[in-house]
Amino acid sequence: MNIVSSVADVRSQVKDWRRQGLSVGLVPTMGYLHEGHKSLILRAVAENDRVVVSDFVNPIQFGPNEDLDSYPRDLDADARLCEAAGAHLIFHPRPEDMYASDFCTFVDMSHLTEGLCGKTRPTHFRGVCTVVSKLFHIVAPDRAYFGQKDAQQLAVIRRMVRDLNFDIEIIGCPIVREEDGLAKSSRNTYLNPEERKAAVVLSRAVFLARSLMERGERNASVVLAAMRACIESEPLARIDYVEAVDAVSMQPVERIQGPVLCAVAVYIGKTRLIDNVTFEG
Ligand code: PAF
Repeated sequence: MNIVSSVADVRSQVKDWRRQGLSVGLVPTMGYLHEGHKSLILRAVAENDRVVVSDFVNPIQFGPNEDLDSYPRDLDADARLCEAAGAHLIFHPRPEDMYASDFCTFVDMSHLTEGLCGKTRPTHFRGVCTVVSKLFHIVAPDRAYFGQKDAQQLAVIRRMVRDLNFDIEIIGCPIVREEDGLAKSSRNTYLNPEERKAAVVLSRAVFLARSLMERGERNASVVLAAMRACIESEPLARIDYVEAVDAVSMQPVERIQGPVLCAVAVYIGKTRLIDNVTFEG
C-alpha cells in the first residue's frame, strides 16, 4: 500500500488502474481512523478492485472557534489500519496541496445545510462539499463510501452528486458503536473518563426514539420530548439540537411518515458529539 501526498501521484496511479480495467472505490476521511472507518474500507474493498482512502483534516470545514488545531492525527496508525483492511492507496495531502494560497472556488448548497449541524456550523457543509468535490475530481472513483453517523453530510453529498452530475455511486454505511452504544468517533478521544460515561446518553436518546417509533408513535413532538428528557437527565450533557427531519430533504417533520431522521448533537463538557437513527416508516 502506498501513501502519496500529491494530486498528480494519485491521478497517475488511478490512470494506471483504469488502463488495466480496474474499478476504484474512495473512502474520504479526516484520519485518526477507527472501527467505523474500517467498516467503510472493508465494504469498499469488497466492492471494488482498488481502494483509495483520503486522509486529510480539511481546514475549510472547521469554523473559527472549532477544533482544527487539536483534531487528532496519527498517520502511522491510519496506515496500519488501511493496510489491514486491504486498502491500496492513502492520499494524504498537505493543506497547500489542496488549497492554493489564492483559492477562491467553493461548492455551496442551500436548504439541506441550513438546519441541524448547519445551524451551529454555518460554513461546515460548504467546506465538506468543496473538499469532497475536489476528491471526486482527483480520484474519479466508481463508488464513494460515507458513514451514516454523519447523516446530514451523507444526505448533502447525495444531493450534490445528483445536482452536479457526478457519475459516482454514493454508499452509506451503518453506524459502528462501542459496546455501550456510543457511536464511534475520532472526537471521542477528547472525553475524560467521566465524560465518556456520560456520552452514552446520545445513543440512549436515539435508541429511545427508535423504540417509540417502532411501537407506533407517529407524533414527532412526543418522540423529541422523550429524547430531550433522556439527554437532560445527564448533568454533563448540553443539547445543541434534537430534531426529527425528512431523511432526504432534511426539513423538520411533525408526523413520522416515510423515512425520518431523528438526530441529536450534544455537548459533553466541551466536546460536541452527534448521533442519529433513521426510521423507515
Ligand atoms: O466525514 C468526514 O470525515 C469529513 O467530513 C469528510 C467527508 C472526509 C470531508 O472532509
